[in-house]
Amino acid sequence: MATATEAAGTAYHDPATGTFLLTTSLTAYAVRVTGDGVCQLYWGPRLSPRQAAGLPLPDWHGGEGIGDELPAEGTERFGPAALHVAFSDGTEAVEWRDAGHTIDGGHLTLRLADRHYPLELELHYRVRPDSDVIERWTVLCHSGADDPVSIVRADTAAWSLPQRQDYRLSYVVGAWAAEFHLQRVRAPQGELTLTSRRGSTRHEKNPWIMVDPGDATEDHGEVWSTALAWGGTWRITAWRTLTNRLDVLTGAGHDGIRRALRPGECWTTPVAAGLYAADGFGGTSRRWHDYVRTVVLPRPDEVRPVLYNSWEGTWFDVDEASLRQTATLAAELGVELFVVDDGWFGKRINEHAALGDWWPNPDRFPEGLAPLIAHVHDLGMRFGIWVEPEMVNPDSELYRAHPDWALHMNHRRRTELRSQLVLNFARPDVAAWAHGWLDRLVTDHAIDFLKWDMNRAFTEAGWPGNDDPHRLYLDHTTAVYDLMDRLRADHPGLRIETCASGGGRVDLGILRRTDQAWASDNTDPVDRIAIQHGYGQVYPAVTMGAWASESPNPINQRCTPLRFRFHVAMAGALGVSGNLREWSVAERSEAAELIAAYQKVRHIVQHGHLYRRTPASPDRTTVVQYVSADGAETVVLAWRATARFGELAGPLRLAGLAVDADYRDAETGTVHAGAALTHHGLDLGLPPGEYASTLRHLRRG
Ligand code: GLA
Repeated sequence: MATATEAAGTAYHDPATGTFLLTTSLTAYAVRVTGDGVCQLYWGPRLSPRQAAGLPLPDWHGGEGIGDELPAEGTERFGPAALHVAFSDGTEAVEWRDAGHTIDGGHLTLRLADRHYPLELELHYRVRPDSDVIERWTVLCHSGADDPVSIVRADTAAWSLPQRQDYRLSYVVGAWAAEFHLQRVRAPQGELTLTSRRGSTRHEKNPWIMVDPGDATEDHGEVWSTALAWGGTWRITAWRTLTNRLDVLTGAGHDGIRRALRPGECWTTPVAAGLYAADGFGGTSRRWHDYVRTVVLPRPDEVRPVLYNSWEGTWFDVDEASLRQTATLAAELGVELFVVDDGWFGKRINEHAALGDWWPNPDRFPEGLAPLIAHVHDLGMRFGIWVEPEMVNPDSELYRAHPDWALHMNHRRRTELRSQLVLNFARPDVAAWAHGWLDRLVTDHAIDFLKWDMNRAFTEAGWPGNDDPHRLYLDHTTAVYDLMDRLRADHPGLRIETCASGGGRVDLGILRRTDQAWASDNTDPVDRIAIQHGYGQVYPAVTMGAWASESPNPINQRCTPLRFRFHVAMAGALGVSGNLREWSVAERSEAAELIAAYQKVRHIVQHGHLYRRTPASPDRTTVVQYVSADGAETVVLAWRATARFGELAGPLRLAGLAVDADYRDAETGTVHAGAALTHHGLDLGLPPGEYASTLRHLRRG
């Protein structure tokens, strides 16, 4: 039994051995300060401080560098470096001495100082009583007065896995309209690097990784994972040695960028969060979801409104008259937030012009946005609008006035992607301009919600005349964060959706200042099953924007029933997109019923615990279950796209229920024993044929 001195969310110090122990409710993490740095001793199930103090220093410490909390370039740590600094006299190695520590509840700070050069390092750790997640971040300070120190690499953390027979890696890969595809591969001997070099998080990889010994399942087994809270470029390297050790390095920035740490300056890395779970990938996901909801999100308590978005209804073709009609129809469906997507500003009639000219298009909105917003508010809905503040089209008044505001390099072309360039948000004048118009837009129009898009990657990412130009990779992201934070602080009612050509900027950094994410531009419900499966490995349903949209789907032309589209989208924060003026009365009435059904269960989906009851598959039955935080309700969503004979006809066992309680089907009134649901299963009652789906809601008692 845990004693008072072993409370969860606490840090302990054993001065005799130099051991520090962090405890969470189920896990422990131990490090030891040695003569020349900090070595990880342990990461796994709970240990007492006495047990931690008795741990030996691993005999591999100091050899390959595995186990070092921040292995540095230039020493006998021959693995990939988490820290690489260059001093002005050519020295590119560090030699640390212990410079003390502080413990403040669950926050431990270890201080190291270079033995010769003016460089100080703080390793920060934070644990909380209600989460098994350990947060780490690092502060590097130039403590001198002379030359800057060049930082070639400054990761947040190295995480060492305890020795196991084998290691397997899980992570997501993707592309536009195909984000979050889960990969599960044996860890190769050598280094496997996941990275973004594109200026922001992007679709190709997402900044988290899970490691298991190769035998974890959805419900059983040990899984270690780490996720980075950063929306700029990043790198995660999993390094496996021949002696079968595995280390994961994680940090902001991609290979090849270097920047100066000036005298007196400190650089604080983004947080890397780490999690050990002993109950498989399902338990791992549920713990990440809890962490995001309780620690990361700004407004975790709220249920996300059902939104309508104009994009897949009319694309760039928006105007006051048609949007008024659509808003009336959306309100009849039960929509609570009406979002006008791209096409409302400047001379924006397609993707080739006007990014940067953030005033209502006078041809489309002759009286400005106010009459439409008043209409939307009168209908009882909130009003949201699409913006892409970090971008500019060369064909815009902004670019003609300020061509230097775009990222560029001397004597190099400015590569256009989607006909646009990236604004250099690291420039204070650009950040001030963006704050000015966004603040006016939100204030003058009582805007409730911004869909904040970021549609292209950085190229020619230079800043002529600036003596430390790579820094813009970091400062751009920080400036975006500062701007979002300031807008939120000044407009407490404002909610923000993160979007980057779909799910290109979803991470623990952006989620700290946004409420939900647009997971993918692919709204085909069958493709979405895999996308949502990968998204949900770390990020909870409350953040996952999901629309029921048109059929045939604009991305892949697949035709699916309305009900199937809605049932798949109900696994997240439900939205609708489509040309409602062309939907039949029958379609609108069915959509209204489905929205009402979602509104009855969304608190369970958004705030409950996710149990993936089957693997996610486009051609098998996929079942997800959510159990409310108080355990009193559960929702089952099942989807089967193909008409495969005999496919999952029988009962499906549910999870997370009390075996001694009864559960009543909210629709049919049928009572099921918790024990029967747990051990025998629930008959899903999926109708025959393709695109079969169901929503089941059971209440205790
Ligand atoms: C991006 C977004 C879409 C939509 C368009 C508008 O592609 O992902 O949802 O907002 O931009 O141009």
